[in-house]
Amino acid sequence: MNQNDDLIRRDLAVLWHPCTQMKDHESLPLIPIRRGEGVWLEDFNGKRYLDAVSSWWVNLFGHANPRISARVKQQLDQLEHVILAGFTHEPVVELSERLFALTPPALSRVFYADNGSSGIEVALKMSFHYWLNRCGGDPARVRKTKFVTLGNSYHGETLAALAVGNVDLYKHTYQPLLMTTFTAPSPDAYLALPGESAEDCALRAAAELEKILQQHGDEICALIVEPLVQCAGSMRMYHPAYLKKASELCKRYEVHLIADEIAVGFGRTGTLFACEQAGITPDFLCLSKGLTGGYLPLCAVLTTDTIYDMFYADYASLRGFLHSHSYTGNPLACAAALATLDIFRDDNVLEQNQKLIRKMQQATTHFKDHPHVADVRQTGMILAIELVKNKTTREPYPWQERRGLRVYQLGLDQGALLRPLGSVVYFMPPYVITEDQIDWLAQVAWEGIQKATQD
Ligand SMILES: Cc1ncc(COP(=O)(O)O)c(C=O)c1O
Repeated sequence: MNQNDDLIRRDLAVLWHPCTQMKDHESLPLIPIRRGEGVWLEDFNGKRYLDAVSSWWVNLFGHANPRISARVKQQLDQLEHVILAGFTHEPVVELSERLFALTPPALSRVFYADNGSSGIEVALKMSFHYWLNRCGGDPARVRKTKFVTLGNSYHGETLAALAVGNVDLYKHTYQPLLMTTFTAPSPDAYLALPGESAEDCALRAAAELEKILQQHGDEICALIVEPLVQCAGSMRMYHPAYLKKASELCKRYEVHLIADEIAVGFGRTGTLFACEQAGITPDFLCLSKGLTGGYLPLCAVLTTDTIYDMFYADYASLRGFLHSHSYTGNPLACAAALATLDIFRDDNVLEQNQKLIRKMQQATTHFKDHPHVADVRQTGMILAIELVKNKTTREPYPWQERRGLRVYQLGLDQGALLRPLGSVVYFMPPYVITEDQIDWLAQVAWEGIQKATQD
């Protein structure tokens, strides 16, 4: 038995994989990876896969990036971890300072969690706790206990994160356990009415948001949004006008704005942060995934002094934010994040990415003419191709047909990791991808789509 097969056998005897119906592996082979380099992942037989989805959107500068690896190794010999309550360390302080140098001036305090969903829990709890503190800390007096979320949104898998998400596939099963939320329509440009621009579609959705805030603003702690791209919700994209309007409305109705840039932060939308494109400053900015270049789990929740000050009091007042995670602010993760920020600074990454963004667009323009492609959309380094059963009516493929999965399987045969979202095939590659590799990926995706939509 070769090493690939051996590892598959041992794995399937003991592991339970994320976001997977394990029975699928009776027919869909698991892929053991021995090493990574740049955009490539390599199995034990030497077969290589181009990681077109950046391993769930975390990897920015390639696998086994020498600069990030060196920084983590250096940190490893110095301090692997220390409790962050009552203690501190250089990497966490430096990272915090550098994040504030890159984000709007009103953001001035950061709380660390160790994955995206936990960071969302932090932002939700902090928002509620702020309003509680503001009305004297008396739970009987606090009226703000709810959140507004957008249709088709995704914020993670823990229970509060699921509650403020709206992708049925993940949420439906756990519904009985979840707090209730207000759901405002998604500004998703794919849902624009005939003849309506993406901007008008966004403003129409914002008008619906206003109705909720007008009616229920006094019950609402915060609005939570994924700025510009609803990634797990099939890479649906929307116009920045929505964010601008939503930010104004949140201020008017005294509701916090939580910007979940866990997936879209760090250059994915073309700018370092998506909020920049709307010129807004949220009350909470959640960053993770690309924060460490895809090396280690870490989430930073940035907020304002106004919020921080509301918690600053004597211990006995119970105003303090007594939330914690064991690995909060882990030094190795912070070191990886610092190396990632160095690369952004030294390599002019955002400007360099413009070429890749153009290439992704050029390489896929012909996809829109495919008889089963309803939409080819792009925001910066994210490009998505929506497959449908009927192009005229946009009737989707029944989900059980798993057309995207067929494209995935065909891609794997060719050596491309194009894990889809339902019937949406997308590219969200590491920024070290070359223009030739983008052309090749487009060719693989095209051939896969042709075959997967034949019948
Ligand atoms: C926008 C967004 N928020 C939160 C999360 C949850 O992050 P994690 O998977 O690290 O818990 C994700 C994960 O995909 C995400 O895309």
